[in-house]
Amino acid sequence: MKYWKKLTSKQIKETVFAALDKNVDFENDLSIGIPASHLDSKVFFSQAPFLEDAPFMNTLVQNPNHIGCHTLGESEEFFVGTHDIEREAIKILAEDLLGGGEDEQDGYIASGGTEANIQACWIYRNYYIQEKNAKHSEIALLCSEDTHYSIPKASNLLNISKYSVPVIEYTREITPDAVAKSVEQAKSEGKKYFIVVANMATTMFGSVDNPQIYIDALKAAGVEYKLHIDGAYGGFIYPVTSNDKALSFANPEVSSITIDAHKMLQAPYGTGVFLSRKGLIEYVLTKEAQYVSGMDLTLIGSRSGANAIAVWMILMAYGPYGWLEKMQTLIYRTDRLCAELDKKNIKYFREKDMNIVTIFSDQITKELAHKYGLVPETHDGNNKWWKIVIMDHVDLNILMQFTSEI
Ligand SMILES: Cc1ncc(COP(=O)(O)O)c(C=O)c1O
Repeated sequence: MKYWKKLTSKQIKETVFAALDKNVDFENDLSIGIPASHLDSKVFFSQAPFLEDAPFMNTLVQNPNHIGCHTLGESEEFFVGTHDIEREAIKILAEDLLGGGEDEQDGYIASGGTEANIQACWIYRNYYIQEKNAKHSEIALLCSEDTHYSIPKASNLLNISKYSVPVIEYTREITPDAVAKSVEQAKSEGKKYFIVVANMATTMFGSVDNPQIYIDALKAAGVEYKLHIDGAYGGFIYPVTSNDKALSFANPEVSSITIDAHKMLQAPYGTGVFLSRKGLIEYVLTKEAQYVSGMDLTLIGSRSGANAIAVWMILMAYGPYGWLEKMQTLIYRTDRLCAELDKKNIKYFREKDMNIVTIFSDQITKELAHKYGLVPETHDGNNKWWKIVIMDHVDLNILMQFTSEI
């Protein structure tokens, strides 16, 4: 670990306050040119005494705008202090968590997994158009049927066709045959350039794709591809609990990764993370964003700097080993839940090293599922699965109570 270390709450507080000191002070500095200010003081009480001990809340009140991407080029000078903290958070995630080389990745705190996934597809679509002279009709999005609906959104917004590879019902796996068939179909419909989205844990099952299956099929078909990893759900757990490096920057085939801090990291909503290898994010440069220093390479535009501070604070409050312990606790609870389900011969799916258990709907009553707030695969009346997500608040007491009622 080069950058990720555990800090005391005092060190965290001092670092955040020192960063805020480097940002523009709307109360005392001369800054009359930007359409930005601190939060409304009638409602948010910037002088409240508890703010002195609350670095995140204080950042919220000071309201830094982190518009743009701060891992390359210039950035707005008004918020340099908190930009530095965001840059450090991006380095920790890209290099220490996800195996990237030193200074070899760009990234930013996006609004969520949806934005980060669309950002990736947008980059590759533009790359193919700009570098290969591709037409929209020649570009395909390739993913599994269990892929999150942000990818159909990307397909719709970016005007590129999506090809969904069916998975095996009981194992939720893509197979070489199924991928080869989808690639062949896409080719027969004139597709030459592929954007692949592999899941580092699907939303419903927590299943993890083997990206090599996609790579082998696309190489065999002789077409170009770029590989994005959707780790919105699993990005803060799977890289820590498993030895599989195929879905990280340690795999040279991986070009970009989405992870969501507002899921497993328990950061406030609005904290997705987009990470990509250097030399790619420039394909979505919006040249017209001339009033933004350093231009804008992101989908979102203005975004709260407090979100970046929240991500950094959580990472530093745990440090890598504290985080490992926390994730291993979730795995332990998941193991115990599965052991109880096995004793009762209940059929379910669970990916090793992940904390989602998805139970066949005929194995438990609807009443029990509703009582415990399980989430169905579909609300359309044909539900086949109920899922349990072992988050921080889902402890062994509640899990054992649930299994005792099956
Ligand atoms: C695998 C996966 N990708 C993308 C998303 C979208 O994330 P968000 O809701 O943060 O936009 C989710 C959300 O559940 C997800 O599970």
